[in-house]
Amino acid sequence: MSARKRPWAEPFKIKVVESLSMLDRPGRAAALEQAGFNTFLLRSDDVYIDLLTDSGTNAMSDRQWAALMIGDEAYAGSRSFFHLQDAVREIYGYKHLIPTHQGRAAEHILSQLLIKPGDIIPGNMYFTTTRLHQELAGASFVDVIIDEANDPQNEHPFKGNVDLDKLQAVIDNFGAHRIPYICIATAVNMCGGQPLSLQNLKAVSALARRQGIRIVHDATRCVENAYMIHNNEPGYADRSIAEIVREICDLTDMCTMSSKKDNLVNIGGFLAANDDEFAEQARNMVVVYEGLHTYGGLAGRDMEAMAVGIRECVDLEHIKARVGQVYYLGRLLEEAGIPIVKPIGTHGVFLDAKRFVGHLSPEVFPAQALAAEIYLDSGVRTMERGIVSAGRDPKSGRNYGSELELVRMTIPRRVYTQAHMDVVAESVIEVYDHRRWITGLEMTFEPKFLRFFQARFRPLATTPVAQLTSTDAQGATASSGARHRRPT
Ligand code: F0G
Repeated sequence: MSARKRPWAEPFKIKVVESLSMLDRPGRAAALEQAGFNTFLLRSDDVYIDLLTDSGTNAMSDRQWAALMIGDEAYAGSRSFFHLQDAVREIYGYKHLIPTHQGRAAEHILSQLLIKPGDIIPGNMYFTTTRLHQELAGASFVDVIIDEANDPQNEHPFKGNVDLDKLQAVIDNFGAHRIPYICIATAVNMCGGQPLSLQNLKAVSALARRQGIRIVHDATRCVENAYMIHNNEPGYADRSIAEIVREICDLTDMCTMSSKKDNLVNIGGFLAANDDEFAEQARNMVVVYEGLHTYGGLAGRDMEAMAVGIRECVDLEHIKARVGQVYYLGRLLEEAGIPIVKPIGTHGVFLDAKRFVGHLSPEVFPAQALAAEIYLDSGVRTMERGIVSAGRDPKSGRNYGSELELVRMTIPRRVYTQAHMDVVAESVIEVYDHRRWITGLEMTFEPKFLRFFQARFRPLATTPVAQLTSTDAQGATASSGARHRRPT
């Protein structure tokens, strides 16, 4: 083989395809208006390349599709449950499995069982649904992630790490008795898909054990994190992905899982734990909210496909190509000088809206406006991860605010090609060239919970001309009245 051999290529060929269609620009403008400038409210038929999320949007393998046919749809004691339990024990190592229809259902059950009003949950950055379930159960979340995580330009290889001093300070301030668990996410979603190191997790685990505090692992993208440890943490280059996943899980007491990501299925999740008593309580509660403890809101066939996906996702060639594709897009943008979060994340490329549309102030939702503009340009759907996603403090009603103001371009697994990534990069570069003409938004409808999913916006009437260069300003005046005044 030549020394110029490329580092990865897709370890699969394509057996089934789904056609894509694209609206023309006036069609996209109308669709965006109808969606209240929120990419979550677009119809998927109006989207060309869908990078809204990597959740449930994966392509299943032929083996997963075949597994659907052998699903056992028994209400109780389904054979498929036992297949899934074997897969979870083999790869993640937790003793008890409680299936749920997706990740947030596991978070709900866990939060209701472990949290009492007034509790504190330290964690390595919030996730939207996870924090909401903690709050609904009466707790407050405290972020103990390292400061580097909030700086998009900082190249720390493990920006998902916990700051041990911050964690110790939370324990000293509130007392271990008010901390039912520490919430540790792998490949931290909200700061750009950034991993934590095993060295850091070992230290967190030692501290937690000394204090008698449990660690709950959000294992949603644990395999992607394990791959980054394999690549970048000294001593792990020769360890398999499965071994690293197992080492991560063994340092924690239980996990919540959205199998719609790493595990390569379109629906499904679980709660898994080593503690017998907790598992018994969770099995009892899942019956109330999800379904019997041997299916938890899933069909037997879903559990079969998940069992196959759990084993497939730790294959080195798979994960190398998955993260390799994300890096491919990230590098195209980096080379073009587009401000993105660095290092490139594992599940998507995140645009730094603070620098991309620096003329927009936080009150006019820069990342939301940028996501809308990218859709308008090319039909590529992305999403906001900034002040809208951060939501409000339920007690004070104040906006949480967000140091990071990002647009997430999340790549579904095994779905799009390299040419699709080229199209995405071309569109983002095009939008960047005309960024000065992007105007901010105002929120016209704000739902109470998880507002980013359903909020509606309207463009502000005028471009902030004062902040434009004089040439830009001339362009803006010449075609006043239109939202997007870029030359065509
Ligand atoms: N934890 C993390 C880290 C997640 O990314 C998600 C979902 C969940 C929990 C909740 O799981 O959706 O199955 O209920 N993230 C999706 C996303 C929605 O687009 O990042 P769920």
